[in-house]
Amino acid sequence: MSTFRPLIAPSILSADFARLADEVEAVPGADWLHVDVMDGHFVPNLTIGLPVVKAILPCTKTPIDCHLMIDDPDRWAIGYAEAGAYNVTVHVEAARDPVALAANLHAAGARAGLSIKPGTPLEPYVETLRHYDTLLVMSVEPGFGGQEFIADVLAKVRTARRLVDTGHLKVLVEIDGGINADTIGQAAEAGVDCFVAGSAVYGADDPDRAISALRDLAANAAHRES
Ligand code: DX5
Ligand code: ZN
Repeated sequence: MSTFRPLIAPSILSADFARLADEVEAVPGADWLHVDVMDGHFVPNLTIGLPVVKAILPCTKTPIDCHLMIDDPDRWAIGYAEAGAYNVTVHVEAARDPVALAANLHAAGARAGLSIKPGTPLEPYVETLRHYDTLLVMSVEPGFGGQEFIADVLAKVRTARRLVDTGHLKVLVEIDGGINADTIGQAAEAGVDCFVAGSAVYGADDPDRAISALRDLAANAAHRES
């Protein structure tokens, strides 16, 4: 029996925005609560921003995981850390100085995450990742929930897992996009620690049960001890 406990981070992008506090309360089993911030520039879609994150924070004890799909994160990310987000993830394709940005996020009391889009390679950013706590591997093109999982990105997950297991990196490996009961096993097997799931959680009749079912599937597929 493996002792590995996968982290499940439901994405409120698939929640009912008119009942956000209730939707947050509907997932007490969540390890992190994933908040997708989109600016209509870095990605074509526009979602929510800092005022809504500030409104959610007092509604839950679950750590807030902010995924910033925005231009100029060097300027805007810090506000999410100062507001009290647990982890603030920026895109490497958008950041000008990701090393300084990670230091600023840490100084503001948050963990720092770096995300890569499906077409962005991992290798050029390995040294940069030494300054980060999480690596968010996108398994869909960022911008929308409910898209199909891109299995090709698992090669990057395997590389990251190896770098962590051999002590070269200390990041937690997170995956985002198209994670559901059919896809979570292969992601877990490749070495993911934390699984974002939007439609698979909030599209379920019982979102909290969907979380435990996903966690069990990931734990069974992972072949890991920690
Ligand atoms: C997509 C977002 C995801 C999205 C995932 O750009 O970053 O977090 O909510 O939704 P599903 O799980 O439905 O693919
Ligand atoms: Zn996301």
